[in-house]
Amino acid sequence: YDLWLRYRPLAAAPRAVVAAQAAAILAPADPSPSLRAALGELDRGLAGLLGAPPPRATTPRAGALVIGTPAELPRLTALGLPLARLGDEGYLIRSVTLDGAAVTVIAANTDIGLLHGAFAWLRLAQTGARLDDLDMSSAPRIAIRMLDHWDNLDRSVERGYAGQSIWDWWRLPDYRDPRYTDYARANASIGINGAVLNNVNAAPDMLTPRFIAKAAALADVFRPYGIKVWLSVNFASPKVLGGLPTADPLDPQVAAWWRAKADEIYAAIPDFGGFLVKANSEGQPGPGDYHRSHAEGANMLAAALRPHHGIVIWRAFVYSADNAEDRPRQAYSEFKPLDGRFAANVILQVKNGPVDFQPREPFSPLFGAMPETPLALEVQITKEYLGFATHLVYLAPLFEEALDADTYAKGKGSTVAKVIEGRLDGHALSAIAGVANIGSDRDWTGSDFNQANWYAFGRLAWNPDLSSRTIAEEWIKQTFTTDPAFVAPVAAMMMGSRQAAVDYMTPLGLAHQMATGHHYGPAPWVGDLDRPEWNPTYYNRADANGIGFDRTASGSDAVAQYAPPVARRFADLGTVGDDYLLWFHHLPWGYRMASGDSLWNTLVSRYGRGVDAVAAMQRTWAGLDRYVDRERYAKAATFLAIQHREAGWWRDASIAYFQSLSKLPLPPGARPPA
Ligand code: GCU
Repeated sequence: YDLWLRYRPLAAAPRAVVAAQAAAILAPADPSPSLRAALGELDRGLAGLLGAPPPRATTPRAGALVIGTPAELPRLTALGLPLARLGDEGYLIRSVTLDGAAVTVIAANTDIGLLHGAFAWLRLAQTGARLDDLDMSSAPRIAIRMLDHWDNLDRSVERGYAGQSIWDWWRLPDYRDPRYTDYARANASIGINGAVLNNVNAAPDMLTPRFIAKAAALADVFRPYGIKVWLSVNFASPKVLGGLPTADPLDPQVAAWWRAKADEIYAAIPDFGGFLVKANSEGQPGPGDYHRSHAEGANMLAAALRPHHGIVIWRAFVYSADNAEDRPRQAYSEFKPLDGRFAANVILQVKNGPVDFQPREPFSPLFGAMPETPLALEVQITKEYLGFATHLVYLAPLFEEALDADTYAKGKGSTVAKVIEGRLDGHALSAIAGVANIGSDRDWTGSDFNQANWYAFGRLAWNPDLSSRTIAEEWIKQTFTTDPAFVAPVAAMMMGSRQAAVDYMTPLGLAHQMATGHHYGPAPWVGDLDRPEWNPTYYNRADANGIGFDRTASGSDAVAQYAPPVARRFADLGTVGDDYLLWFHHLPWGYRMASGDSLWNTLVSRYGRGVDAVAAMQRTWAGLDRYVDRERYAKAATFLAIQHREAGWWRDASIAYFQSLSKLPLPPGARPPA
């Protein structure tokens, strides 16, 4: 339950290190709610690590932690700390001499910055870092760092694998479950500053006074932690709730309804973030129902929010069964022409890949293609296509791959990270969203290792340059133990886990091979669904001759949506690489890979490699029981056994189906499908 904020008693040596640097706490006399949260966390953390919270000091003394803004603690002014570049959320931690005493200063421009600084210092303390010679500062690179909850008002969670929604709508707004505070603490500790409370497939009821009051209660809990509440809205709300005959965004009555609704929300939640909108996608209503563009729809909502400084986050996850265009091309075709047509307080939120949260996809071609529009990156933390709760898949390498992808929009180095930071095209608005994996399970996320994906999302949202290995290591140290004999093998296991899942589910650039609807387990043979673009066979295009989707000029030409250097790389068999091979190319079974082996043999061996990697993960974990409490050890061991069994299921089912088409023998050494 404690996530990475465990604060278990330290062994003697690290205890002495921490105790020496936290001999007392010196803080402003009359702390704000945010500073109280920071001090509360330091007390809680140090009480856990050392056995007792440190005393308060009123003047600097050796080993004190001094926390405050220069406005609150004027004695900090003399230090001339470089706070200007830290903005409203960043912090600085420095070992200094203050009034003759060696102390550690945690400083910021705001009390939210101090809260982030307190968490950062506790992270150092928990991970066994040196604390006596600190000089660090940090500020977020992306302004809006958000969890998107796909939580319904009946507490079911779309694509949720960790129990019911943590929002106990029935008992809200009166009863504020302490869990909401722990949720806010966990998010603040990694820098998340926004939460969309409800599913993008939005129930209109979310905007009723009853539910606005519930959202306002949550906003009250989150406020000291610097976390804003946002809501998903249903575009047809003026009709469904307001009784209007239309939801046409150009109808003045509709616009007036939304303005009044925005006013009502801001009266209850003065710092409300804004609306998230899924429109004209997978059956949701939208401006297209009235032959209006996405920009016309978004701008109407933006006008309603503008007086309150609210923001519309409009999703680009749009594709249609009536459109014959190859699915990964559709969002670009729809949105690229609208570049420059969105109001100033609209952000377009784009999934990392052009299809849908697959184990691996190339980056969406919209990144870099809409310089006039702030784009947000949306990734999925919940593992809809990656084995749900039980498969151990550490997602930071996937997030990192997406952030580091080079769009070449303005030459080499035009990474997705730079696009969404607003740096590439000079936007003040910037955002990143992760579809939450959180539920009411005791472990929050359906497994202990899934907590790492929440953690990693927050850390990368704050600083997209962090490496997934560093994040894994710091998470392991806080969550389990700092013992290198545990940290090194577990980090290695986590780092390899995403590629393992790619290999046993969708190797070599395959995608969307999961069973229909729930997306659990293999079904590469399914080809008879009403919506053709939901069929696994749509993606694998396997037949007697070969496999893969030709997205070069001879096929759907999806490559043409990328900047020329990227398009050339993907289109050319010599440069596309194994990871995206079958995403962009249809190839004969006998095609010679760079390795010299045939495509068929390579495909078969990739599935096997994935299963073997899970077996290796099991072996790693099996040797580590003495470092972990029995309960968490046994749970992870059981889940790995499930994963191993199901990886084998994926391999056997996939190979059996593809072999029924290729009619080729298994390569020597390959295990015949069970
Ligand atoms: C996927 C997912 C849906 C979700 C949709 C979205 O298609 O399966 O459950 O609603 O993404 O992101 O809107």
